[in-house]
Amino acid sequence: MPTITVLPHESLAPQGARFEAEPGKSLCQQLLDHGIDIEHACGMVAACTTCHVVVKDGFGRLPASSDEEDDMLDKAWGLTATSRLSCQVDPVATDLTIELPKYTINHARE
Ligand code: FES
Repeated sequence: MPTITVLPHESLAPQGARFEAEPGKSLCQQLLDHGIDIEHACGMVAACTTCHVVVKDGFGRLPASSDEEDDMLDKAWGLTATSRLSCQVDPVATDLTIELPKYTINHARE
């Protein structure tokens, strides 16, 4: 089973995290299931950017993002070339290493 590695984040995952990917669940849902309280303001329908993550390893092995996801991502704080909306990522097919951005468009996480 592929592994999801979350790099340490000051408030959401101070020690980082590592867990096995679960089929049928978005990356956002799996983060929540493992106690990482990532924001998901729109209810995981690609209509906000609060679930933004940066994929540090595995980006190229993920299915491509949709136009809808790309349009929303353009509004994300701290957008990078390997950014994704975690609610739109089904990570079961590959190992991933992700970083949680320090901020979201909703509010600062300091
Ligand atoms: Fe809103 Fe993912 S939760 S885009």
